[in-house]
Amino acid sequence: MRRAIFPGSFDPVTNGHLDIIERGCKLFDEIIVAILVHPEKKPFFTIEERQEMLSEVLGRIQLGSCAVSVDSFQGLLVHYAVAREAHAIVRGIRGISDYEYELQMALMNRRLEPTIETVFMMPAETYSYVSSRLVKEVFQLGGKLDGLVPPLVEARMKDQTEKR
Ligand code: PNS
Repeated sequence: MRRAIFPGSFDPVTNGHLDIIERGCKLFDEIIVAILVHPEKKPFFTIEERQEMLSEVLGRIQLGSCAVSVDSFQGLLVHYAVAREAHAIVRGIRGISDYEYELQMALMNRRLEPTIETVFMMPAETYSYVSSRLVKEVFQLGGKLDGLVPPLVEARMKDQTEKR
């Protein structure tokens, strides 16, 4: 049973994240999508909202026999990965600009916990420029998000701004 953690902020989940989860499912029997609880950050969605949205969109895609669950964590990722008895951490790499930061994190994580491997995966080219940060910026400036995030996420973003 190979278990991986796919950590991130997921504020919000994008189609790029989903693409990585689908690809990760070809390598692992189980993927835990783990949302970082970051007390200092001012997020668009709360942890609970992100967790709920992720569970809902994951329920709508074909993941074969791979068991995908959603959780949140605080503190060091490697401590969480060990506690969940994971074998690997999955991270998406969209391009060279991601690589430097990801490599530093992967090597630091390896130093902290040599038993956990980091696996880098490339999303489909269509998503190579998609990030949660740009999605929020485009949304806040009135741009269309179709194809970038699941329709449910765009709807929740609209609800959220109406509430404010
Ligand atoms: O989606 P993001 O914001 O790029 O994800 C970054 C994340 C959550 C993977 C990273 O910030 C992280 O692992 N934070 C937990 C704290 C930690 O373990 N820091 C040391 C990493 S070398």
